[in-house]
Amino acid sequence: MNKPSNPHTLAFIGAGYVGLVSGTCLAEIGHTVVLVDNNESKIEKLKNGHIPIYEPGLEDLVKKNVKEGRLTFTTSLKKAVEQSEVIFIAVNTPPMANGKADLSYVAGATREIAEAATSYKVIVDKSTVPVKTGERVLETVKQYNKHGLDFDVVSNPEFLREGSAIEDFMKPDRIVVGVENERAAKIMREIYEPIKAPFIETNVNSAELIKHASNSFLAMKISFANALARICELSNANIDQVTYGMGLDSRIGKSFLNAGIGYGGSCFPKDVSAFITIAEDLGYNFDVLKEVEKINSDMRELFIQKIEKALWITKGKKIALWGLAFKANTDDMRNAPSITIVEKLHKDGAIIAAYDPEAKHTAKEVLGDKVQYVSSKEEALKDADALVIVTEWDEFKNPDWEVVKKSLHNPIIIDGRNMFDPKEMEKLGFVYHSVGRG
Ligand SMILES: NC(=O)c1ccc[n+]([C@@H]2O[C@H](COP(=O)([O-])OP(=O)(O)OC[C@H]3O[C@@H](n4cnc5c(N)ncnc54)[C@H](O)[C@@H]3O)[C@@H](O)[C@H]2O)c1
Repeated sequence: MNKPSNPHTLAFIGAGYVGLVSGTCLAEIGHTVVLVDNNESKIEKLKNGHIPIYEPGLEDLVKKNVKEGRLTFTTSLKKAVEQSEVIFIAVNTPPMANGKADLSYVAGATREIAEAATSYKVIVDKSTVPVKTGERVLETVKQYNKHGLDFDVVSNPEFLREGSAIEDFMKPDRIVVGVENERAAKIMREIYEPIKAPFIETNVNSAELIKHASNSFLAMKISFANALARICELSNANIDQVTYGMGLDSRIGKSFLNAGIGYGGSCFPKDVSAFITIAEDLGYNFDVLKEVEKINSDMRELFIQKIEKALWITKGKKIALWGLAFKANTDDMRNAPSITIVEKLHKDGAIIAAYDPEAKHTAKEVLGDKVQYVSSKEEALKDADALVIVTEWDEFKNPDWEVVKKSLHNPIIIDGRNMFDPKEMEKLGFVYHSVGRG
């Protein structure tokens, strides 16, 4: 990859999934980056060479850029702002009880940046925020900067996916930059110069909307496929065949048409509900997104019912659970379907032995002792009354079926990710339940 012709000094406020990956990647392409987090233990870990999250390839890239002197970590936002020309806000925007995005972290970081700045800064919002947040950020900066400095506020939403975050950042489908003047636009073009992707310049409000619109549309595709799966079950059709037939139409596309237990994670659930409230506040009733949410939560409920139907009584039964993370290749447990499933089964008195290759520690924080955390997929199966598959990890794709059958009390599998062919499973002697295969 080419180096930028004009490297910049960048600060990232928030060293989470987005800040850590984006900051590291921008260091890798040649900028000088300081990552700030007010979570002291996170920064301490990073300084000692430990990566606080699981993300394939990230550890090596962080180490390389630290060694080459382009990447540093600090808890001092003030120092980071002083030494950087461009400040990216990559803090969390979690959902509140009413569905709205909690913007207090964005507001807090903005105020701190304004108070610390002693020269012109470009403030780039990378967090996912409601449309018109940029206007509020600019007002806040003006209120709290005592020196009356010049600032530009830019929106640069992030589209990376956990599990393939580095690849997504380095080879994105597009780079979206919402910017109101040429001075900031030029700096943003220079920052992203080495990354070969369509560079879309819009106004700030449009950039903010692109992010919520994209995530909500993708969630809608998943819910559409899940609604179809329900129809397939009622009509003896097969969802794989239906979505394959649909997906070959280039106007529709194959991706995000997988039926199963629905979407989870830190983005889709919160972004869909935030978008509903954003639209409501603007005076538009985005009913289709309410239905997207309903279909999604129904899928989790339906999956639990499938488990209950297959086992008749769950009280006292031992269930082997493969996967806890909200999807494969991440340790992220935020809004993972496994939480709803485990909580219900535990409440009903089932004993759950769960195996996840990476999410054991994050899952423990959420599920505590509702689950026995085991160290291999085989260990989970021992004397279990059924196997329940919740996350589509690669290592679950080709198990030794003889071992699975021998370990289970009953050869029952309830698969929330449609990982296997029902006919094959039947041939192998399993009672196999999946989603939407007639
Ligand atoms: N996780 C994803 O896959 C993803 C993808 C695209 C966009 N986003 C968006 O990016 C944003 C960040 O998401 P994330 O998953 O990285 O969140 P995260 O919770 O993993 O990280 C946020 C970090 O910000 C830190 N922080 C909060 N306030 C701070 C402050 N004032 N000073 C210093 N540090 C502060 C927190 O300690 C935390 O480490 C969210 O708006 C999210 O919606 C996330």
